[in-house]
Amino acid sequence: MLTRSLINIESGRDAGDSRPAENDSLVGEFAHDLMRALASQPRAISPKYFYDEQGSQLFDRICELPEYYPTRTELGILARNAEDIASQMGPHAEIVEFGAGSLRKVRLLLDAMDRPARFLPIDISGEHLARSAAALQDDYPGLDVQPVVADYTQRMLLPAALPGAGRRVGFFPGSTIGNFTPPEALHFLQVAGQVLRGGALLLGADLVKEPAVLHAAYNDAQGVTAAFNLNLLARANRELGTRFVLDQFAHSAFYNAPQQRIEMHLVSRRRQKIALGGECYEFDEGETLHTENSYKFTIESLRALAMRAGFRPGPVWTDEDKLFSVHWLHAPA
Ligand code: AVI
Repeated sequence: MLTRSLINIESGRDAGDSRPAENDSLVGEFAHDLMRALASQPRAISPKYFYDEQGSQLFDRICELPEYYPTRTELGILARNAEDIASQMGPHAEIVEFGAGSLRKVRLLLDAMDRPARFLPIDISGEHLARSAAALQDDYPGLDVQPVVADYTQRMLLPAALPGAGRRVGFFPGSTIGNFTPPEALHFLQVAGQVLRGGALLLGADLVKEPAVLHAAYNDAQGVTAAFNLNLLARANRELGTRFVLDQFAHSAFYNAPQQRIEMHLVSRRRQKIALGGECYEFDEGETLHTENSYKFTIESLRALAMRAGFRPGPVWTDEDKLFSVHWLHAPA
């Protein structure tokens, strides 16, 4: 029952026709944001540029690393509590997943739910979304899978509820909320609250913990996180024709305790110049490009943030070591 022609909320065009325009505008936006980052002090760029094809593959490898506990811990929490979560959802619920990765986690929910009405995965990358939605549809032939191509951080229109459908439940796993700045996180929750009105949000959030555990998770022994970070420069070389020499930059990830976040940077190993868009940007030795923040939460801080966006906190599920949390948040009426 997969709706083959993807809905492109922003352009209204069929995703099959939109690749060149989508690519051009994404490359243009990347060039613009990288130039802006290089021209500013301190230098910082959105982590969304990690996720081209290579970056997404590297992220999948990160999720399997022994040091990177969030993915397997969240999967464990979902598996152990699937029945309880499904009973919060009620019969005929529909799931709206914000960002469609491998769609592995939602399977745990679908397996436990009472006659799920529909699954609406939302992602900005139409190609990637079509692939994962088709794979899910193959495994759940009776489920109505309707992928939506949209930027879920912006206001969006979703298909109207199906007649007789139960609750609309948003699903935002993986602690991706931690990669937003605090104002972006609040804005995302406000947008989610609007599309989930009267329903709920199931949200995964990584917890504040022993800094050594966090440090190891972002500085793995195999160097996969370093490659993921450096892929940002490799991607700029591929797409924008820059000439970053990758081994002239070092991966740096550390826990900023006052801000309760992991920061990732690329540190220039020497003084060097980078040309982009007719401009020349100079890096001193030790100067950094800040590539990602990964905020960590306490159960209370996450609930307080959700309440500011109009959600009412419900049950929270965690693992025994309190590494990770999954929150049930009632959306505004
Ligand atoms: C996607 N996101 C939640 C990951 C995180 O842990 O912040 C991205 C990541 N960065 C380095 N390792 C994983």
